[in-house]
Amino acid sequence: MRYRPFGPTGYDVSIIGMGTWYIDAGDRQNAIEAIQSGLDAGMNHIDTAEMYGDAEILVGEAIRNRRDDVFLVSKVLPQHASRSETKRACERSLRRIGTDWLDCYLLHWRGPVPLEETIAAFVDLESEGKIRSWGISNFDTDDLEEAYGIASGIGETIACDQVLYHLKERAIEHAVLPWCARHGVAVTAYSPFGHGDFPDTDDPGGRVLQEIADAYGATPMQVALAFLVRHPTVFAIPKASTPAHAIENAAAGDLLLSENDLAVIDRAFPRGPRPRTLPMI
Ligand SMILES: NC(=O)c1ccc[n+]([C@@H]2O[C@H](COP(=O)([O-])OP(=O)(O)OC[C@H]3O[C@@H](n4cnc5c(N)ncnc54)[C@H](OP(=O)(O)O)[C@@H]3O)[C@@H](O)[C@H]2O)c1
Repeated sequence: MRYRPFGPTGYDVSIIGMGTWYIDAGDRQNAIEAIQSGLDAGMNHIDTAEMYGDAEILVGEAIRNRRDDVFLVSKVLPQHASRSETKRACERSLRRIGTDWLDCYLLHWRGPVPLEETIAAFVDLESEGKIRSWGISNFDTDDLEEAYGIASGIGETIACDQVLYHLKERAIEHAVLPWCARHGVAVTAYSPFGHGDFPDTDDPGGRVLQEIADAYGATPMQVALAFLVRHPTVFAIPKASTPAHAIENAAAGDLLLSENDLAVIDRAFPRGPRPRTLPMI
């Protein structure tokens, strides 16, 4: 597994991490073992959210006795993003997980609450030691500029923007990714397998992935992850609910594709024009 600095936080975070949306939907023990296998395989980044039902509780069980080994991220819903509600939402997440702190706390997506309020709550939580950094999710460059302006004005930094990024959805490459690289903000790629819409091996793009995978003794999903994290500020967080899937995903953290492979994948899954609004799930 390779690790890289997570934006300005000072933490070295695995380039492949673990998502947990719907991880509570299947066999509970299997899911806990999946997270633990992922940790054993070097994935120290776990992403969860107050929105994900019992996922926070399940994550808490999985990381008991190894909390210090984890870079733990959770998120506040936009409807809870006022200064006082954000702090209450964070307290609830901490209780559900059974931890004293989050390594990074994100605004899940932009809502009606002024950003100043949410950021003020993040700063309060930082000073109370309940979060160690903060970021945002599903922000396009105009929202990023606004958040950055507010943060800079009070001597704060944005740790990351967590955004939709997979082979069939490369919109962030137009502006969000370059903006984040310029400003030292980490990019976390969510739904890196397309949330259930991974290229089929019967499709031309899927066949390209399979051919490259065969050349490395890898799988198409590992190749897809390696492509997404080719940029030095990107982290991917696939969700796996079985140990086998988690271990397979973690191994992608060691897969380095050649420039030619990257070019072939780029042609098979074209970036397309910049959409009017940033796509999100
Ligand atoms: N910030 C946001 O707005 C936002 C939005 C969406 C997602 N997210 C985060 O991003 C995470 C990942 O995205 P996602 O859950 O939407 O979808 P995803 O990671 O793109 O895909 C998950 C699907 O891939 C399967 N899978 C995982 N590893 C596999 C492997 N090695 N081989 C075959 N199948 C495999 C999973 O099956 P199994 O479950 O059977 O392993 C599951 O069906 C979420 O869990 C969440 O933490 C954030």
